[in-house]
Amino acid sequence: MKSLLLILALLFSGYAPAEPFAEGNIKTGKTLVDKHCIQCHASSFGDDGSSIYTRELRKVTNSKKLLSQIRTCNTMLGLKWFEDEELNVAKYLNQTYYKFSE
Ligand code: HEC
Repeated sequence: MKSLLLILALLFSGYAPAEPFAEGNIKTGKTLVDKHCIQCHASSFGDDGSSIYTRELRKVTNSKKLLSQIRTCNTMLGLKWFEDEELNVAKYLNQTYYKFSE
């Protein structure tokens, strides 16, 4: 009975597994990636450009590296994205391809 109460308490306390980039907006992130990032990935990696995120020897192996790679591209391309735009993109790429849980 005690454990049942504990489960119920957890359910109703808004417990949710940790998620990186929780404050990001996926839809905005996708729009940004579609507009600025896909074309070049697609021309060097083929298909729709998404295999760069799922290739076997991908460079990004955790959520920290994902954010820093996005920052690098942002700077390299001179996009001048703000931090919230980077987070939107990070959330979109993570939820769609990388699926890091922390
Ligand atoms: C001018 C071409 C170009 C553009 C534009 C570009 N990228 Fe890239 N990107 C690359 C190349 C090339 C690599 C692979 C680098 C490597 O393997 O060392 C890469 C790799 C990446 C990776 C790492 C993939 C992995 O291995 O896990 C991410 C994430 C990424 N890019 C995000 C972005 C984002 C976000 C944008 C838009 C702001 C963007 N890129 C725009 C060329 C580009």
